[in-house]
Amino acid sequence: MRVLIVYGTTEGHTRSLCHFAARALGEAGFPTAVQPAASGRSPPVPTPYDAVILAASIHVGRYQPPLVAYAREQHEVLNAKPAAFISVSLSAAGITPPDWETCDDCIARFEHETLWTPKAVHKAAGAIRYSQYDFFKKLALKFIAAERGLPIVTSRDYDLTDYDALSRFVTGFASEVQAPR
Ligand SMILES: Cc1cc2nc3c(=O)[nH]c(=O)nc-3n(C[C@H](O)[C@H](O)[C@H](O)COP(=O)(O)O)c2cc1C
Repeated sequence: MRVLIVYGTTEGHTRSLCHFAARALGEAGFPTAVQPAASGRSPPVPTPYDAVILAASIHVGRYQPPLVAYAREQHEVLNAKPAAFISVSLSAAGITPPDWETCDDCIARFEHETLWTPKAVHKAAGAIRYSQYDFFKKLALKFIAAERGLPIVTSRDYDLTDYDALSRFVTGFASEVQAPR
């Protein structure tokens, strides 16, 4: 069984998570290809794959437009196939119900805009890469992080992803596709 992962990313963390997920899937016996939603080349073709996973991160309440456009263009294929979504954000790392509702609102809007209803959704906590942000992004991220009780010391970066949970999600999803209960 072959899996395709298509991602959108702004600072690269979602790309890293997708390559991590592909390694976990490969080790579990599911060969996996990873491709960006937009690369200047022709878009990834989902039809030859048995299962598809899309992944994107939230920036100011929205997922990357190329990934949203890809999901919208492919929504008929995605709705017909076993297809899952990984939503990467700091809201997923938050500790209060309003954080999780923010995450759920973004996912609901994504589903509405793309006409795609994923068979499974995983909310992954993202990263704070203070070292890569310009002055204004750093300020914005400090605000977003402070609101969610996350680190605001800007002299280092933070990877908040639970890699075990991500691995369990993707391998569980693929196993379920291969041998439905
Ligand atoms: C400018 C900016 C805006 C962001 N806005 C949000 C947001 O509205 N909600 C949220 O939960 N996380 C937000 N984040 C956190 C990102 O989702 C997180 O850093 C993620 O790991 C980025 O993934 P990427 O590197 O694949 O783009 C924001 C990050 C940046 C840099």
